[in-house]
Amino acid sequence: MNHNKIILLVVICTVSLVLHHNGLQRWTMDAFSFGFRSHPVPLQKLKRTNLVFLKTHKTASSTMQNMMFRFAEHHNLTVAFPADFCGHMFCYPYYFSPKFVNSHTIKPNIIASHMRFNKKELQLLMPKDTLYITILREPSSMFDSAFSYYLNECATFQRVPNHSLEAFLADPWRYYRSNEMDSMYAHNNLAFDLGKDKDHPATDAAYVQAFLAEVEQTFSLVMIADYFDESLVVLRHLLSWDLNDIIYFKLNMRKEDSKRTLTPVLASKIRAWNALDARLYDYFNASLWRQIAALGSTIVAKEVQELQQAQERLMRSCFNGQVQLRSSKEMINKSLRPWQPAGAAEIMGLDLPLNFSHGLSSQVKELCLKLVTPELHYLNILQHERSLRYRNSVSVVQVSVVQVSVVQVSVAQIPDE
Ligand SMILES: *[C@@H]1O[C@H](CO)[C@@H](O)[C@H](O)[C@H]1NC(C)=O
Ligand SMILES: *[C@@H]1O[C@H](CO)[C@@H](O)[C@H](O)[C@H]1NC(C)=O
Ligand SMILES: *[C@@H]1O[C@H](CO)[C@@H](O)[C@H](O)[C@H]1NC(C)=O
Ligand SMILES: *[C@@H]1O[C@H](CO)[C@@H](O)[C@H](O)[C@H]1NC(C)=O
Ligand SMILES: *[C@@H]1O[C@H](CO)[C@@H](O)[C@H](O)[C@H]1NC(C)=O
Repeated sequence: MNHNKIILLVVICTVSLVLHHNGLQRWTMDAFSFGFRSHPVPLQKLKRTNLVFLKTHKTASSTMQNMMFRFAEHHNLTVAFPADFCGHMFCYPYYFSPKFVNSHTIKPNIIASHMRFNKKELQLLMPKDTLYITILREPSSMFDSAFSYYLNECATFQRVPNHSLEAFLADPWRYYRSNEMDSMYAHNNLAFDLGKDKDHPATDAAYVQAFLAEVEQTFSLVMIADYFDESLVVLRHLLSWDLNDIIYFKLNMRKEDSKRTLTPVLASKIRAWNALDARLYDYFNASLWRQIAALGSTIVAKEVQELQQAQERLMRSCFNGQVQLRSSKEMINKSLRPWQPAGAAEIMGLDLPLNFSHGLSSQVKELCLKLVTPELHYLNILQHERSLRYRNSVSVVQVSVVQVSVVQVSVAQIPDE
């Protein structure tokens, strides 16, 4: 790529980011590409780039985090990393503090790793126009998932005879110790992540009302994992993002045979035990569907379909039509292995076919790789890029080249078949 081309692309990028347009954005397949080569630059609202994504546990939030990381890379944004002494979460389960942020990543645009939410402290760190987003999942399937995922990590679950969910639910207080390490995984984990008291009785109507009101006031969108694609479409409209920005592969799935079907009785026992989470979920599920109706249900359904079609095309291109879903142990590419809990649940990873790079441009290859890169590995990559950028900060031209080549990756450039 020669220099004139680079400069032209930089100018186009800048122009497209600076242009404002208040009309309703049309969602053609053109909008799925960045369109810098053969399509005119689409007029659009400025994309929102300052975001807190509160990553909750067992809620498809790894998939969301991967999307946030890719968005940040494409748009040259700074992602806040946890400080080394915090591990891969912001010293969870302590309340978030800017002290827990790696000093190389201040001032961040995006923060998307696990934390216990603390709005006041986040406001000290983030720009004034930051939007807050989080995700919830139906509490009974979420708790079932946590129960097998944290089986050997969470002392509450270890105490349960035969690792039986039924036995636990028959008398949860017998096994649960409120002040124990990792006890938050066993009781109202969503309320806890949102900064609330996981053991507060849900019968305290004033407490629940205040909690719901606070979450509603703080978060511009509470996504619902059970309606993930619909939530993404609402998110896209809220942030003025393209389809390219919300495309994803599901990460961190449980193996089919480590899932079970919950009976209605068990499901209602789980909801009763996690009553704060259940109230939270019902409230924000209703609120999501109101937002969908406000956008127009048919528009949302159409965009969901377009998202899924683009996803299928990308899946075909990246994986030659074969989804290489493998258990962590069986994965050929070791660096794509997701973190595996010591518990019984097997987490699946997406592996690449042996002839992966065959016929793919390096940009598409890069996108395919990033889509299946697990959380911890991705954090390492971003951290590495950060330190390189610090070292090379004298060479501005070099940085622009990297930026532009990444921005050009688009779904439309991938060979259709
Ligand atoms: C645990 O499993 C064993 C064998 O399946 C059974 O005999 C025993 O009653 C179970 N214990 C409890 C407390 O459910
Ligand atoms: C979420 O809300 C919708 C609309 O009110 C409802 O139809 C659906 O059953 C709810 N989902 C769950 C899992 O509660
Ligand atoms: C395995 O994954 C890593 C990490 O994303 C990537 O850099 C590497 O090229 C992959 N190896 C193969 C053989 O695909
Ligand atoms: C890659 O390998 C698969 C079988 O493993 C084969 O079906 C496919 O045609 C190959 N793709 C290319 C581009 O060679
Ligand atoms: C990317 O961001 C860095 C600072 O965060 C800045 O120095 C650089 O000029 C940016 N590059 C482009 C192409 O916007």
